[in-house]
Amino acid sequence: MEVFGTTKHKIIHGDALQALQTMVPDSSVDLLFADPPYNIGKNFNGHIEKWDTEEAYLDWCYQWLDLCLQKLKPNGSLYVMTATQFMPYFDIYLRQRINILSRIVWSYDSSGVQARKYFGSMYEPILYAVKDKTNYTFNAADILIEAKTGAKRKLIDYRKAIPAAYSTEKVPGNVWDFARVRYRMDEYENHPTQKPVALLERIIRASSNEGDIILDPFSGTFTTCTVAKKLGRNCIGIEMQEEYIKIGLRRMQLAAEYKGEPLKRAIRSFENDVM
Ligand SMILES: C[S@@+](CC[C@H](N)C(=O)[O-])C[C@H]1O[C@@H](n2cnc3c(N)ncnc32)[C@H](O)[C@@H]1O
Repeated sequence: MEVFGTTKHKIIHGDALQALQTMVPDSSVDLLFADPPYNIGKNFNGHIEKWDTEEAYLDWCYQWLDLCLQKLKPNGSLYVMTATQFMPYFDIYLRQRINILSRIVWSYDSSGVQARKYFGSMYEPILYAVKDKTNYTFNAADILIEAKTGAKRKLIDYRKAIPAAYSTEKVPGNVWDFARVRYRMDEYENHPTQKPVALLERIIRASSNEGDIILDPFSGTFTTCTVAKKLGRNCIGIEMQEEYIKIGLRRMQLAAEYKGEPLKRAIRSFENDVM
């Protein structure tokens, strides 16, 4: 396992279970975003993510989910993703251990595969949970969106003692429309399941404050850490594929932080890639 970055923004190159066990102190994380392999046969840089059985996949997930809960502060928040078919298992497992506040649907405009004989999947589920439902961060004012009733239709609420215009902004509901990251978009990286910056911006603004520690155990292209850094949060990103570590270093502008021989090796290949 190798660690790159600074004390505030760390990239760990290694296995999530091992890194969570050995590199992250218990009760130290304010916000955890976990976007694991979905067990649907995606190709992560030559590594096909497919377990022999669904049970084996779920057993593995329960192990890292337990560790994630252990790493969260008592007032911490957790967002977890997986494939639609596995989310019910996550939900049942987690609701016995943490307070699920929202079951979010990330809805998008096009599916990867155009289904012809069934209804193609146009969303991915996200569970949002907090350790203590009486004490957690939720910065509603930082994630307001337009409320059409007030802003566009300019309706008046006559149910009030003194009729007043409907407000022009609201906290988003649990269906989130964000375009998927596609080839040729500015933020596109060579990764099959990169999450959009806008999605992580909403999560990080809502559920953390400046200076908080955010952990992403399956960082991929390091969208979480890139947004966390941009918004003045600290972060720890774990990823097992070296190719994706290089993407993370570039996106987080951490190349200059490389030190030591293994790091020099990595930066050399990183420089070759970008030149
Ligand atoms: C769904 S992707 C995450 C995508 C990421 N959210 C993004 O925006 O790019 C899951 C990532 O987990 C990594 N991964 C798979 N198994 C892992 C493990 N045991 N430890 C650490 N990373 C792992 C894969 O290489 C892949 O990049």
